[in-house]
Amino acid sequence: MKKIKTQFFCQNCGHQSPKWLGRCPSCGEWNQFVEEEIRTNDPAISLELQFNGTPLPIDAITADEKERIITGIAEMDRVLGGGIVVGSAILVGGDPGIGKSTLLLQVLQCLAEKEMKVLYISGEESARQIKLRGTRIGASSKNLLVLVEIALENIIRQIKELSPEVVVIDSIQTVYSSALSSAPGSVGQVRETSGSLILLSKKTGIPAFLIGHVTKDGSIAGPKVLEHMVDTVLYFEGDGEHAYRIIRTIKNRYGPTNEIGVFEMRDNGLQQVSNPSGFFLTERPEGAAGSVVVPSMEGTRPILVEIQSLVSPTNLGMPRRTAIGVDHSRVSLLVAVIDRICGLRLGNQDIFLNVAGGIKEDEPAVDLGIVSSLISSFLDRPIDSGTVVFGEVGLTGEVRGISQTEIRIKEAARMGFKRCILPRTISCNTLWEKKIKLFRIGTLRELLEHLF
Ligand code: TYD
Ligand code: MG
Repeated sequence: MKKIKTQFFCQNCGHQSPKWLGRCPSCGEWNQFVEEEIRTNDPAISLELQFNGTPLPIDAITADEKERIITGIAEMDRVLGGGIVVGSAILVGGDPGIGKSTLLLQVLQCLAEKEMKVLYISGEESARQIKLRGTRIGASSKNLLVLVEIALENIIRQIKELSPEVVVIDSIQTVYSSALSSAPGSVGQVRETSGSLILLSKKTGIPAFLIGHVTKDGSIAGPKVLEHMVDTVLYFEGDGEHAYRIIRTIKNRYGPTNEIGVFEMRDNGLQQVSNPSGFFLTERPEGAAGSVVVPSMEGTRPILVEIQSLVSPTNLGMPRRTAIGVDHSRVSLLVAVIDRICGLRLGNQDIFLNVAGGIKEDEPAVDLGIVSSLISSFLDRPIDSGTVVFGEVGLTGEVRGISQTEIRIKEAARMGFKRCILPRTISCNTLWEKKIKLFRIGTLRELLEHLF
């Protein structure tokens, strides 16, 4: 009898171990190890998926940028780096109910309208449920084929037979390969099935969208390795509580990362938001202390975001510090700098900071925005509503230069802002001075002179 070889896999990160472990040495999670069978090369699948390639001189290989499929949904094309690259595998992650299935059905419908044959494979919903969703979003093209299937072998066969131009797998956690005995959704299955599907994409040139669920800690469920295997990772940011949905490029082999696409969930599906700056500022309070606008770069596009904070004396021994949308430790650091350099005693204050609209900011340019917002709230003095600020803040209170200044100022001017506080060290076109008044500062003390 053939002996089945098994190993233990961490269900969180995919770490492999010959024996069971309580705590994963790789990701630190407890109680995640499950025994899974190791892939015994199934000749039926692996032979079929071989490339049988021979080496070629690089100048003999043809590839042009035109090999992109434009979806027609501009925000989607943007996050993909200008359309779907032929033969690529794209992982789309996000919380349950955030709109992954809806968005991809819409993408397929757009392509189907352009006379492309596209295939939507679902292991989550029945054909009837998919039809109902399709009706809401107006997906009714005969070129949009729906297959309800979870068996990998049949999925591969159908893709080969139909040779659609784009395929969506909803979701990768439901796909099951009978070559492995472990349950669908386990690390072994996810790795195996996605590996086969990615290889199939590469071989046939059919781009594949793989939808992936997200675990409670926010990473794409199953192995991190999945992120390394695919070409592009798109991720729905935030939770489903806002009406709008932000989709961000986490990784892209064929375009810029950190690009975002903004959509709004309506009755008839996701509608793109073409002017995100205006969108994020619509509910901005007028003349409120603690609110300030920062032109931040999201990928290649500047977007104006509002930073809000509330600073109030604490009733507890240990003041509370909450930051949503920015790094918590970055805020603590800036609080210490304000305390020390500006002489504003924030040590005994509760501090709540929020980036309005559920967007996440991790570029240093928002530092000056965080500082301005905290100072404004602490002093209870509103910042002029026509002012934007940006710049990195160093530990000694110096304000440092950042990249892509012109494009940020341009966006602020376009949205009607009249004053801009920016680092002194950066040179920029003085032409802007006519439209928007520039205040160049080198330290936080100078910030106080111009802020109010
Ligand atoms: P869905 O695409 O099923 O999410 P996911 O695949 O990420 O789990 O989205 C479901 C949510 O979207 C659900 O709460 C209903 C809402 N929705 C609308 O508001 N309008 C629509 O037109 C559709 C299709 C869904
Ligand atoms: Mg879904």
